[in-house]
This record gives sequence, structure tokens and C-alpha cells, in this order.
Amino acid sequence: MASDTLEQPRVIEIDKRRFSSEEYRKLLKAGNVSELFYFNAYRLWGEVVHGNHIGNTIGFPTINQKYEQGQLVPKFGVYSTFSYIGNKMYLSVTNVGVKPTIAGERFPLAETHIIDFEGDLYGKEIEVKFFDFIRAERKFDSIETLKNQIEEDLKTAINQYDELSLIY
Ligand SMILES: Cc1cc2nc3c(=O)[nH]c(=O)nc-3n(C[C@H](O)[C@H](O)[C@H](O)COP(=O)(O)O)c2cc1C
Repeated sequence: MASDTLEQPRVIEIDKRRFSSEEYRKLLKAGNVSELFYFNAYRLWGEVVHGNHIGNTIGFPTINQKYEQGQLVPKFGVYSTFSYIGNKMYLSVTNVGVKPTIAGERFPLAETHIIDFEGDLYGKEIEVKFFDFIRAERKFDSIETLKNQIEEDLKTAINQYDELSLIY
């Protein structure tokens, strides 16, 4: 579905003190967002421009951010992320890729499901900050197996968040 879009995802400026752009690119292409997290986290942001809570086809509503041609795209896969809405931070999971399980979707998207969020996101500014890698994107035999896997992904995100909280 084309709605629920965050406009103009961009990567923030690269911290030259710690990572060269070449290193930054390599880490992102390897899905190694945790390496970047403390110094220069990979993030996407924008305004939710079309309604909210679509992706309801599989029961996990998502906010979709489309990558433009030439834009740096992380390794296709599922990530633990934080979503900032207003002055609140939510734990979320983000799938970056082309949704190979679903026919017809072939352009890269970042799809974020915000855990335990209910409400209208229309017009809100959202920032999504990536903090850990969960798994590579895969083609599933059925929507049901994908849904079961997403349940596991949510548990992994919660565990990774708990580990991160221990470090702080
Ligand atoms: C946490 C998460 C993990 C996902 N992993 C995959 C995946 O491995 N393979 C895949 O084809 N789609 C994956 N998806 C994308 C779903 O297929 C997609 O969200 C769903 O089909 C709804 O799409 P719609 O918004 O176009 O309705 C994932 C989505 C989420 C939120």
C-alpha cells in the first residue's frame, strides 16, 4: 500500500571524527548499525503524510519510508529501532528491503512497526533511529510464517533493548 509514508528519508551527516564515509557505508551495508549507534546512529525522519496504521493486512501496522534512487540503503533486514514521536521515544522494529514475500513490491522501503503505539500519526514528525540488527530479510512460504517470525522479531527487539539498557 502506498499510504503511511514518511517523506524524504535522509541519512544524517557523517561524523568525520570517527567514521570515514567509506567506513560508514560499509557498516551500513553489513547491517552493523549497533557499531554506529553511540557516535552517529543511522536514522530516518520525516512527516507522516498519509494516515496511519496501514500494513494491517498482516496485523502489524507500519510507517513506510521510501528510499530514493541513489540513496544509501542499509543491508536488507530487520532492525531494532527507536521511534521518536513528539517528545516520546518508542521501541520499534524496522524492516528494510523489498518485501520478497509480497508480490509486486520491488523498490526498497523502510517499514517501521512501533511497539505498543496506538493513535493517529497523521502530520506528526517521526524520527527512526536504528540500534541493532535482528535478521536478514527473507522470502517466506506464507504470510502466516512471516507473522510468526515478526512475533519473534518483536521479542528479539525487546531483548536487545534490555541489553542496551544494561550498558547505559
Ligand atoms: C518487523 C517486520 C519484519 C518483516 N520482515 C519481512 C521479511 O523478512 N520478508 C518480507 O517479505 N516482508 C517482511 N516484512 C514486510 C511485510 O511483508 C509487510 O509489512 C506486510 O506485508 C504489510 O505490507 P503493506 O504495508 O504493504 O500492507 C516485515 C515487516 C515487519 C514490520
